[in-house]
Amino acid sequence: MNITIIGSGYVGLVTGACFSEVGINVTCVDVDQQKIDNLKNGIIPIYEPGLEKMITRNMNKGRLHFTTKISDALRCSDVVFISVGTPPDEDGSADLKYVIQVARDCGKHMNDYTLVVTKSTVPVGTSLKVKNAIKEELDKRKVNIDFDVASNPEFLKEGAAIDDFLKPDRIVVGVESTRAEELLNTLYKPFTLNGHPIIFMDVISAEMTKYAANSMLATKISFINDIANLCEIVGADINKVRKGITSDTRIGNKFLYPGIGYGGSCFPKDVQALIRTGEEFEYELKVLKAVEAVNKSQKSVLFNKIMKYYDGDLKGKTVALWGLSFKPQTDDMREAPSLEIIKKLLLAGANIRAYDPVALNEAKHHFENTITYCEDQYETLINADCLAVLTEWSEFRIPNFKIMHKLLNVPAIFDGRNIYDKSELKKNGFDYFCIGVNTDSDVLRPEVSLSY
Ligand code: NAD
Ligand code: UDX
Repeated sequence: MNITIIGSGYVGLVTGACFSEVGINVTCVDVDQQKIDNLKNGIIPIYEPGLEKMITRNMNKGRLHFTTKISDALRCSDVVFISVGTPPDEDGSADLKYVIQVARDCGKHMNDYTLVVTKSTVPVGTSLKVKNAIKEELDKRKVNIDFDVASNPEFLKEGAAIDDFLKPDRIVVGVESTRAEELLNTLYKPFTLNGHPIIFMDVISAEMTKYAANSMLATKISFINDIANLCEIVGADINKVRKGITSDTRIGNKFLYPGIGYGGSCFPKDVQALIRTGEEFEYELKVLKAVEAVNKSQKSVLFNKIMKYYDGDLKGKTVALWGLSFKPQTDDMREAPSLEIIKKLLLAGANIRAYDPVALNEAKHHFENTITYCEDQYETLINADCLAVLTEWSEFRIPNFKIMHKLLNVPAIFDGRNIYDKSELKKNGFDYFCIGVNTDSDVLRPEVSLSY
């Protein structure tokens, strides 16, 4: 089978690499000439564990190709996946211009039956728009070529994308014909053989499934962050509360870690887009609005703690930052909490010395020479007035506290990811602040207990 993937970003590249890995002939297309030239030379535009090796291996085997020419790719393709971006437009709804452009390109260039599958995250009703755009282009050409559309939302997580694609919790496919169902069933066979389910449904339900999944996950995070904030006020420890609630199998023990708010290219924009879809249909998604509001304020929580520690004056203070990407194992900084925190620190007059294992280049695009970039985590601490941990990279978990204590001007650590143990930090002479634990006092404050 020959397939084409249009849009060679995080999703497109992982999809293309994984399909070629199981022996399918794949062509990845992108409008970005530089990106395609680099890929042809084995230069991968993103950091994603295992991706570079997989792409190189399959290019060398001759079953993974890169081009900017959609017409060449479509000439002999049975299935086309659309995996271009769907960024939020001004009102938060998903901007479909790239998706529709690709649909038009498909209509312009297909010359035999083609199944056009939308893998980008798109609001309900988009497949119909894709179908109409293809039809319009075919009508302009005055040709009558049979085609199908399908929806196949992607659930991979950055940093674990290859594993997620090869061993998916489930594959969701929305189809309108048995021909499309059979084609996608065959294409995904290598990934479903070991019991990973493929779930077929109608197109609208598939489109909705993606938003519902991301919104549910975002809800879990805002919920635990809200509870964490209350834990701090009443003197409870969120780490203990988390264990207490997640041992209930109905709640489950995943995705309930408190932190400095969810970021990335998906949750923030998908929650917003679903709220807008509700509004379009005159339905208010009240829970999701609250999820969004909690997340917005959670991104300020660590900054507020640093401000409080310095009595509201950060002018001339130096803050060391460990971690800039929105989560470990990726260089992606889209909607990363670090963006908000750095902006606030700069505005307050602080100097910043930052380190991230892979996201420094990305950070330079955002902050140019307004902050100092360090090539080593300890280098950030030299003469710094505190350290803030923004991403839970493994290499930050067991650092050398003695060296840290020596390098820091003031031994204060603000841990946005709860990776350290408060008693160990205190033992090592640090002032320690994290999320959802009142590190100022170990006991329930009397005025709180009185109010119960
Ligand atoms: P991305 O920005 O990394 O990549 C999109 C690519 O599409 C870019 O390289 C861009 O140049 C290319 N492109 C734009 N217009 C084009 C056109 N007309 N023809 C060919 N190429 C074109 O985006 P991404 O993170 O891969 O996300 C793609 C979609 O998948 C989005 O809808 C996103 O919500 C969804 N998604 C993303 C993730 C993730 O973790 N990143 C996970 C699941 C779903
Ligand atoms: C997410 C979805 O998980 C994935 O299924 C979808 O396809 C794309 O969007 P991703 O954005 O790559 O994936 O990262 P994810 O691991 O889900 O983390 C998202 C954000 O939530 C990060 O900022 C992370 O730090 C935060 N998070 C996650 C928490 O704060 N607490 C948690 O317990 C889990």
